[in-house]
Amino acid sequence: MKEKQLGLTPAMGWNSWNTFTWDINEQLIHDVADKFISEGYKDAGYEYIVIDDCWSLKERSKEGKLVADPEKFPSGMKALADYIHDKGLKFGMYSCAGTHTCAGYPGSFEHEFQDAELFAEWGIDYLKYDYCFKPRYISGELLYKRMSLALKNSGRDILFSACNWGADNVYQWIRESGAHMYRSTGDIQDNWDSIKNLSVSQLDKECYTGAYCHNDMDMLVVGMYGGSNNDFIGSKIGGCSDNEYKTHFSLWSIMGSPLMIGCDIRKANQITKDILLNQDIIAINQDIEGRGAYRIKPEPQWFNADDAFMLVKTLTNGDLAIGFFNLSDSQRELSLQFWDMGLPYASGISLSMYDCWEHKEIGVFKERYAPVVPAHDCIVVRAKLVK
Ligand code: GAL
Repeated sequence: MKEKQLGLTPAMGWNSWNTFTWDINEQLIHDVADKFISEGYKDAGYEYIVIDDCWSLKERSKEGKLVADPEKFPSGMKALADYIHDKGLKFGMYSCAGTHTCAGYPGSFEHEFQDAELFAEWGIDYLKYDYCFKPRYISGELLYKRMSLALKNSGRDILFSACNWGADNVYQWIRESGAHMYRSTGDIQDNWDSIKNLSVSQLDKECYTGAYCHNDMDMLVVGMYGGSNNDFIGSKIGGCSDNEYKTHFSLWSIMGSPLMIGCDIRKANQITKDILLNQDIIAINQDIEGRGAYRIKPEPQWFNADDAFMLVKTLTNGDLAIGFFNLSDSQRELSLQFWDMGLPYASGISLSMYDCWEHKEIGVFKERYAPVVPAHDCIVVRAKLVK
């Protein structure tokens, strides 16, 4: 019997790539699964533990099967899946629509049904599917349809996470392909410019995200502090301030992106945990109707709106999640007029605001609310309509 809820809300979990890239092994994955339980990640909703690129041997077996690297994963993938499942968690893997993965390991091109069967045998619950080495004579759209169909017929519920970096007009065809989430941006880096650029690039893409097929802005860099083993992601120039990580998590949450942790959670400090485990923010991300957020430009209108704006997400119970984001380099007052959210003054209705980072009521406001937001920071409120 298929689980009907697969992919309903954005996936939550952990992925090995941002911090560890090629340096992955069985012990690391065990430790992450253990921390999911002991540190409260599972209770907060994080579910999937995903191994990214570099897990296999460079060649398929004589029968054409993918083979897990026996040095990195001596007990094999089935045993690893069992370990993760025993903790009530789910196990994710990685492959590629092309002939090779981005790091040069075998991809699933022309092996789609065979690989999906193997993943199901191993007990995989999630497949991230990359876009490197895709032969130019075939469309990506067709290749994502192939793997989607293969997974849906593998006999196991496997969440399909497409990763073609927002290329080839993916917005126009990915939902129909059957994918549950899809990368809509290039790769994230552990620095403020990357966080800012990725979010701004997605402001006009929010109309495409929604239940069962979520716009994926890439894995989180919260708590990495430059701790990647990879120069591109940020081992040399990387690292953000805690406020920047808080803003990053708020943007990804309200914009409906999957929340895939990318830091080394074995070493996460208290601030990192306070960010990643913030139930008020997670509730906005996981709201069941899964609506995208719309942008409101602050008044007055001459204000530069690309680096300072409000994002509003309509929630299932009628509340509004409102993020006041100041991505600019100096403090700003962000003035929100309630008429911009469909609330006329004449209605007599006010908004009762709850601060999702301070975890306390702010008060009841009529017509407008205009907080001052420090540079690179944000305020996220949950607003209830009151007479
Ligand atoms: C990229 C992908 C990254 C990571 C990497 C692995 O294409 O966007 O998230 O999976 O490949 O080589």
